Amino acid sequence: MSLQAIRYTRGSLDVLDQLRLPHEHHYDAVLTSDSAFDCIRSMRVRGAPAIAIVAALALAVELGQADVGGTAAEAVTYIDHRLDHLFESRPTAVDLGNAITLLKNTIRKVNGSAAAVVSAYVDEAEAILHRDLKSNLAIGRNGADWLVGGVTPTAMLNPISVLTHCNTGSLATSGHGTALGIIRSLHERGALKHAFCTETRPYNQGSRLTAFELVYENIPSTLIADSMAAALFQTKKNSSSIAAVIVGADRVVRNGDTANKIGTYQLAVLARHHGIKFVVAAPTTSIDLQTPTGSQIKIEERRQEELTQISGPLIIRGIVDTSTTARVATADQRIDVWNPAFDVTPHDLIDVIVTEKGVIEKIDGDFHLTEVFERRG
Ligand code: MRU
Repeated sequence: MSLQAIRYTRGSLDVLDQLRLPHEHHYDAVLTSDSAFDCIRSMRVRGAPAIAIVAALALAVELGQADVGGTAAEAVTYIDHRLDHLFESRPTAVDLGNAITLLKNTIRKVNGSAAAVVSAYVDEAEAILHRDLKSNLAIGRNGADWLVGGVTPTAMLNPISVLTHCNTGSLATSGHGTALGIIRSLHERGALKHAFCTETRPYNQGSRLTAFELVYENIPSTLIADSMAAALFQTKKNSSSIAAVIVGADRVVRNGDTANKIGTYQLAVLARHHGIKFVVAAPTTSIDLQTPTGSQIKIEERRQEELTQISGPLIIRGIVDTSTTARVATADQRIDVWNPAFDVTPHDLIDVIVTEKGVIEKIDGDFHLTEVFERRG
């Protein structure tokens, strides 16, 4: 069974603390929108879909206990206020904004009491969780089909190797994952030779989380530093048949430009240079049709200590001692630091966008996301 970062039953929400991974598995009870805000801001939960799901569900749990007022209008005001606060937790991923819009629209359709408003909210928040899992499984299938041409004997006889960046797996979603979901699906079909994952500096989502998920799932895999990708493509391209770089997305805008974890853009440039396919895996909840191009995306900038310090448990006589934590300096603490958490990959460097509704390819060099959405309802 794959890892579960989010454990929810009506009235209770536990979230795996990703800051303690891979060494400790500790779940925090997240029972209010304030504690969800804190969990998201401190990156105890991260990854575009997971952020939205935790925000939506934490408020659902809070509503079970809260005094939302006596009328439907008062309940709507209460929920709006909490959602507006959650919206401020992290700016770049669009899934949270899309979920908030959906939830606000849902409660406005209720014609009844405050209790009916709360009930409609809770149902929709739970549906967001369930739809995400279905989407991930479909993305896994669609991406694997596109890469190896379906579940065929030929695909199994010619397994491919891929590189992924950041963490897009069960930890970043409701389960299975997006880019890592495609890798998981390839592996399940016997069509994966090897998965390489980057360390993903400075926050190390690759080495702390993706490496952990790959080991957990027994997927043949190798960790590389971000700076090794060019050398990997140059030296292993033929012997390991690296067919694709597969990444997730925090926000895909109307022309297909994609904001994702810092370092994604440089991988896209390298992939193009080496003739390797560049695949973005994104549920439609990560698509933002309101924003025309990537230059309008707000990129989160994070603390300079993420580059100048590192923390983790000590290794004592070869064993990780989880009872200790040390923070060490990795640079002169007076150096100026620039730390954008995301970058934008221009659409011309992207070969396909894999969604749960299907694989979107460019026509005459352009993605037509609006038309695809309209056509598919
Ligand atoms: O800062 P993070 O760890 O939240 O960034 C996560 C990423 O960039 C992921 O690649 C993206 O959210 C897709 S997760 C399915």
